[in-house]
Amino acid sequence: MELEQAMLGRRSIRGFTKDPVSRALLEEIIELANRAPSSMNTQPWHFHVLTGDPLEKVREGNSTRMLQGVPPVREISDHGAYAGVHRERQVDIAKQLFAAMGIAREDKERRQDWVMRGFRQFDAPVSIVVCFDKSLDDNGTIAHFDLGAVTYGLVLAAWSKGLGSVINGQGIMQSPVVREHAQIPDDQVIMTCVALGWPDESFSANDVKSVRRPVDAVARFVGFDG
Ligand SMILES: Cc1cc2nc3c(=O)[nH]c(=O)nc-3n(C[C@H](O)[C@H](O)[C@H](O)COP(=O)(O)O)c2cc1C
Repeated sequence: MELEQAMLGRRSIRGFTKDPVSRALLEEIIELANRAPSSMNTQPWHFHVLTGDPLEKVREGNSTRMLQGVPPVREISDHGAYAGVHRERQVDIAKQLFAAMGIAREDKERRQDWVMRGFRQFDAPVSIVVCFDKSLDDNGTIAHFDLGAVTYGLVLAAWSKGLGSVINGQGIMQSPVVREHAQIPDDQVIMTCVALGWPDESFSANDVKSVRRPVDAVARFVGFDG
């Protein structure tokens, strides 16, 4: 698949078939993502690729604790509640997703069900927990940048192979559970996870194309005229 086609076509996938994803294909995707740039080529990332029983335990533990009202325990600082334009964009994508799923504004039960799906990593057959070296924690911002680059590489590479994925902060909301069942080494920090699998064509939220601001709203060009 052409890069441009992949970049334009990719969208978050939140409904998956039950079909497994082969280890060989996952290795191919990680090999591609692994070409991401990083500060001074430090490559601070680690991928823990879960399926089967360990993933079920992560799903179960994460969802149960969230249902019980345990406050989120993440290993990176929380973004808190979004406000202003960021909140508006957050609401817009939620509206698009709920409209696609036919979930009415007042339908608290189905809205809650949607949120719980996120904690279950949308029942994806694979979850890739993305971590960085704890020794860089004091320098966290740059390592976070590196992880963003490699994670985008991962979702694009997956898309180019016909796989769907969603970067899924909800899936590591209860990070101690993830740490336990994925056996994350103590010298790594959990950043996020990516839920991944074969897209379920009948799952309508998978068709949602999120909105972007036009180029002239996100970029200014200096020194180009005259
Ligand atoms: C750091 C990060 C965390 C995310 N966490 C979630 C999540 O927990 N649940 C979810 O449904 N989508 C999550 N997403 C996906 C975003 O909602 C999605 O990328 C955004 O709405 C743009 O849509 P698109 O990926 O289809 O272009 C996350 C994305 C990022 C980059």
